[in-house]
Amino acid sequence: MKSIEDIALRGRRVLIRVDFNVPLKDGRVADATRIRGSLATVRYAIEQGARVVLASHLGRPKGNVKPELSLGPVANELAAELDQPVVLLPDCVGPLVEEHVNAMLDGDVALLENLRFHAEEEANDPAFAKALASLCDVYVNDAFGSAHRAHGSTAGIVEHVREAGAGFLLMAEVEALGGLLANPARPFVAVVGGAKVSDKIALMRSLLGRIDSLIVGGAMAYTFLRAQGVEVGASRVEEDKLALARELLAEAAARGVHVALPVDHVVAREFREDSPVHDADSAAIEPGWMGLDIGPRTRADYSRILSRAETVFWNGPMGVFEWKSCSGGTAAVANAVADSKAVSVVGGGDSVAALVQTGRAADITHISTGGGASLELLEGKILPGVAALEAKAG
Ligand code: 3PG
Repeated sequence: MKSIEDIALRGRRVLIRVDFNVPLKDGRVADATRIRGSLATVRYAIEQGARVVLASHLGRPKGNVKPELSLGPVANELAAELDQPVVLLPDCVGPLVEEHVNAMLDGDVALLENLRFHAEEEANDPAFAKALASLCDVYVNDAFGSAHRAHGSTAGIVEHVREAGAGFLLMAEVEALGGLLANPARPFVAVVGGAKVSDKIALMRSLLGRIDSLIVGGAMAYTFLRAQGVEVGASRVEEDKLALARELLAEAAARGVHVALPVDHVVAREFREDSPVHDADSAAIEPGWMGLDIGPRTRADYSRILSRAETVFWNGPMGVFEWKSCSGGTAAVANAVADSKAVSVVGGGDSVAALVQTGRAADITHISTGGGASLELLEGKILPGVAALEAKAG
């Protein structure tokens, strides 16, 4: 894969596919993490004297023009971050767009309107990919968060451009996440949380061959406990995934991977933010009570395992961390991952939010901006956005 640094940019129209699929609130960007993630690439292109054309999707408008999914707020946020004007173009392809792009000066920045206002983007339509390609002399992909999508702007376009390379974010993500699969320092500990076993089963399967310990938290832990015959009261259990959970535990045992499950819990009678909670000091949960977070002994146990790790990957919260009463377990894991001397890689919106909340984001080796993309990479899947660049480089 070529890097943006391997390509001459001065005076050239450089189309950078970014993932500015950010949350909006009241017409403004609510969390600019993904925009900041690509700033190094955008700034580099500006400094090199490129005519910078940025392209992104936002939400899932499914081929319809939805004004509430316009990239207008993103253009404003980006202009503030860059401290220079960012022109939002009325569309992402077509004569008006071409006219504007062809009149740009070196160092100018324009943002194309939401790629997914055209159904052809997600269909990876060759004519659409070609129309996008006609806007540039050089194509750069920095949209790691969308690299698992074979869309017009992430895959199809590459065939139609003369030069293509990866931006700094895409390269850093592939290096950090790929490094976990390639040659991680041992012990390698994975912390996997979240609500559903089904969302993380492929990830856990893929990691089992590489890790020494698997720490499990979040509602999915109750399915694993139940699969071991432990009573979990009214906790959320995926009954139809019990067999899968048992298989995974058996595979872990066969591979000598230590699986850490909660030994105590924070419990409540109802799944409500204002429901009173207390610590329940055993792995089993009484009837009528539900586990909503890992308890103090589990936090200490997980922190001890993490303190001995040389490599850590964390994805998914340990409890209902958006409720203050049930956020302690996720915060404890965030602190333990941040305190460890290990190479630490964290992915997934909730884990990253927990790190930000605890003020520990700076203590992590790599925070991934990819949701689905980081999971698919770690599941061992080929990411079409990366594969297209690799094929181009030969
Ligand atoms: C994401 O938010 O994970 C990426 O931007 C991809 O979005 P998508 O799941 O709508 O393709």
